[in-house]
Amino acid sequence: ISLKPFNTFGIEASARYFASFHNLDELGTLLHANAPGQDNRLILGGGSNILLTRNFDGLVLQNKICGIEKVGEDDTYVYVKAGAGENWHQFVLHCITQGYAGVENLSLIPGSVGASPMQNIGAYGVEIKDVFHELEAWHIQDRQLQTFTLAECRFGYRESVFKHQYKGQFVITSVTYRLRKTPQFNISYGAIQQELDAMGVKELSIGMVSQAVINIRSSKLPDWKQVGNAGSFFKNPVITNEQFQPLKAQFPAIVAFPSGPNHTKLAAGWLIEQCGWKGVRRGDAGCYPKQALVLVNYGQATGAEVYALSAAIIRSVEDKFGVTLEREVNII
Ligand code: FAD
Ligand code: EPU
Repeated sequence: ISLKPFNTFGIEASARYFASFHNLDELGTLLHANAPGQDNRLILGGGSNILLTRNFDGLVLQNKICGIEKVGEDDTYVYVKAGAGENWHQFVLHCITQGYAGVENLSLIPGSVGASPMQNIGAYGVEIKDVFHELEAWHIQDRQLQTFTLAECRFGYRESVFKHQYKGQFVITSVTYRLRKTPQFNISYGAIQQELDAMGVKELSIGMVSQAVINIRSSKLPDWKQVGNAGSFFKNPVITNEQFQPLKAQFPAIVAFPSGPNHTKLAAGWLIEQCGWKGVRRGDAGCYPKQALVLVNYGQATGAEVYALSAAIIRSVEDKFGVTLEREVNII
């Protein structure tokens, strides 16, 4: 089966076996020791954070577990449990309609609820960890459901335990978020305030913040339905303040933000742009003209071509700045 409709990069690659699951029973059956493709599996949500570099000689399992349910509340919070197969942005819109605050800054991020904890998705000053309560995940080996608390997920910048120690061992089946009954607006990041002003917003609401984020994102990120991509291809590198000092002296215009007391986060988009990659196209693989951190597929690029472009970018950023970019997208 072709995986092209199942990855936002629009890369042509095939899977040996492909199946969807809608509940735990189906998942259990598909992951049974005797079922096909058990030596090589890929759990797929919306396919918006993967780069397929070759055909997948194994089993691709598409998560379709649905349902959104309020499971508890106290004076300050509501607890909302969502099936891992729910679309993330639809979940955000549901929260906004219900008046549940906390995820409005994360509007318009593609993909599924189940993938949201994988890399602790983040945008505009908010990360999943800020609204996370717990998740349930199916342990493939032990064939049982396990609950993970906030601490157990070990969230970091685009990191969680599921990308490392537990890589490939669990299928996330639901996530429970802790949302506020009364909003605590977070509009200090980037151009949100400016956009709210441009929209003529007098009184803040979570719906207005969501709309502002949608407007900003739409103005600089490519719509994957038009031009294939997986968002930021690299992470913004975090270096120590000692490493930052000489860089700042040599490149006074460098774009950087404090990251805790001892570290500095560099804007990878700036580093890449300075190396001359912004808007560069090699065949159908390219570096997006409006946002250098985003690599794109103009149509027929292969995953290997996009990967080769990313390797060339890493080399030149290393040569010019002595900083090694790390890929954010999952390479398959
Ligand atoms: P997939 O791509 O399907 O999977 C990603 C990884 O998670 C894979 O390794 C997969 O095996 C694993 N996985 C998926 N579901 C499960 C599950 N249920 N259990 C276990 N493992 C699973 N990300 C941000 O953080 N912030 C942004 O602002 C942002 N902007 C983006 C903008 C665009 C235009 C695009 C295309 C992407 C953007 N992304 C952003 C990246 C992407 O949207 C997120 O990483 C998203 O969470 C991926 O969800 P998905 O369901 O598509 O995951
Ligand atoms: N910049 C440039 N040139 C570019 C791109 C960016 O100089 O081509 C500089 C600008 O100075 C800009 C700064 O970099 O002000 C930051 O750019 P932007 O606000 O677009 O954000 P980003 O750091 O490139 C990160 C996340 C995005 C997230 C936005 C908003 C990472 C890897 N990326 O991008 O997440 O949406 O901030 O919070 O942390 C994703 O993970 O896929 C993703 C899109």
